[in-house]
Order: sequence, then C-alpha cells, then structure tokens
Amino acid sequence: MRIVGRLFAFFAVAFAVIAAGCERPGTSAQEASLGAGAGDAVTADTNDLYGCTSPSRGGTGKTYMGREISQVMGHRGADWLERPERAENEMPGRVVEAMSLQPSDVVADIGAGTGYFTFRIAPEVPRGTVYAVDIQPEMLAKIRRRMKADSAGNVVPVRGTEKSPKLPAGKVDKALMIDAYHEFAFPREMMLNLREALRPGGRVFLVEYRKEDPTVPIKRLHKMTEKQAVREMRAAGLRHVRTEDVLPRQHLMIFEKPAP
Ligand SMILES: C[S@@+](CC[C@H](N)C(=O)[O-])C[C@H]1O[C@@H](n2cnc3c(N)ncnc32)[C@H](O)[C@@H]1O
Repeated sequence: MRIVGRLFAFFAVAFAVIAAGCERPGTSAQEASLGAGAGDAVTADTNDLYGCTSPSRGGTGKTYMGREISQVMGHRGADWLERPERAENEMPGRVVEAMSLQPSDVVADIGAGTGYFTFRIAPEVPRGTVYAVDIQPEMLAKIRRRMKADSAGNVVPVRGTEKSPKLPAGKVDKALMIDAYHEFAFPREMMLNLREALRPGGRVFLVEYRKEDPTVPIKRLHKMTEKQAVREMRAAGLRHVRTEDVLPRQHLMIFEKPAP
C-alpha cells in the first residue's frame, strides 16, 4: 500500500511539472536551432543546464543551473512597476549613473515593462537609441503611449521572444535587465542572443534583489544571489567586471562581452 502511495506521489509531482510547462531545450530537432530571424542567430547547445522540479509558489518548475525560474509578471501588475515608493527603494538614478551613458550610446532595456528605466535613460542618450524589449505586447503598448507623451523619439519598442531580444547583431553598447532576468524562460538562449547583439566591449547591467539578505521583502524566486548570477552570465560568455554596492536592496552587477 505504501509503495502505491509513493508511486502516486511521484506521478503527481511529474504531472505538476509537465503541467507547468517545464521542458528541456535542445532535446528535439525543433529546438536544435533557435531560428534565423534578425537578432536570433545563435544556436543553443544541447545541454543539461535546464531541469525540472516540483513548482514552488510563483515558480515555473523549470530550473536553470539549479535555480528555479519564476513566472513572468503579467501586464495586469504594471501599476506596481510605477509605484511611488519604488524611487526610494530602488534608487533608479544610481543605476543610470553607474551606466556612464554617452550621448550616442545604443542601449537595450531587456524586459522593459512599462519603461520605468527606458524613459530615464532616453534623455541621457539624445543622439543614440534605447531599444525597449519585452515579450508582452500590452507592456509595449504602454511604452508607445509614453513615447508620444514624452516625445521620446529615440525609443524603439521591440517585441522579443522568450529566447531572443531580437536586436541587430553587434550594435548594442549597453544592455540593462532590471528585476527581469529571473523570469526569463530560456535564460541561456536569451543571453547568448544578447551577447550577439552587444558590440565587443559592450556591457550588461544586471540588477536583481539580493537573495542573500532575508530582510529584503521580495518573494524568494524574484531574488538572486550574486554567486548564481555570475555563474549564469559566465555560462553565456560574459566577463564579470564588478558588482556595485550602491542600491539599498539589489545587486548591481556589471558584465562585459570580451573582445574577440
Ligand atoms: C518585473 S518586470 C520588470 C520591468 C522593468 N524592467 C522594470 O524594472 O520596471 C519584468 C518584465 O520582463 C518581461 N520579460 C519576461 N521574460 C522576458 C523575455 N524573455 N524577454 C523580454 N522580456 C521578458 C516581462 O514581460 C515583464 O514586463
């Protein structure tokens, strides 16, 4: 009877994981290539970096390098991104300052959401471009509305896919990912394609809530340790330049695409 119970529990977990859409990339002919669209040129290796686990609350049940990937924040929660207390908790000005933006920089805000950062960066690059990349068309619609309101002619909204930011190869000087990377369903493919989009020496500014600090009041899967983030970026061929300890609750980690 106990064996039957255990078997039942095993199949219940397996079913929950399958129901959560946990899948390993690179295991079928269809997944062997990521496609050949613009900015989508990189083919992922078949690898064992992805796995499955019993989904935790807010989680997908899919793991990458041992970390469970969180569910994507839906566009219905967009107001939360614009909450007034965010400026005090996240100090966006310090992130922009750390980016040392030049007037002609090409910047990519990956997982841009409502454009909370996009529209803080746009005035700093008057002769450059800010690509605002997101997978949710509703978020991009909000960005388009704000572009009109702010007359932000240097913002370019881009509908990415779960695997690629769909950016032109070798053009991006600086990419930022704020509170977004932990949601990427295919972080490896996203980062390999983003690396292609960066020019040699181009930088990635990765901001995630500090998982090492239990007092940071954010759900567990929406936080990352610095160690884990560095491992994942290195796996995509990016060099860890430094981590700046300037934000009250988040790591601000800087990575670079090495020159060939
Ligand atoms: C928590 S929101 C953060 C938005 C914004 N970075 C901010 O700080 O206000 C995460 C955003 O990442 C987007 N996202 C999730 N996976 C993505 C992917 N693979 N490519 C691009 N955007 C993605 C979601 O649609 C969502 O808008």
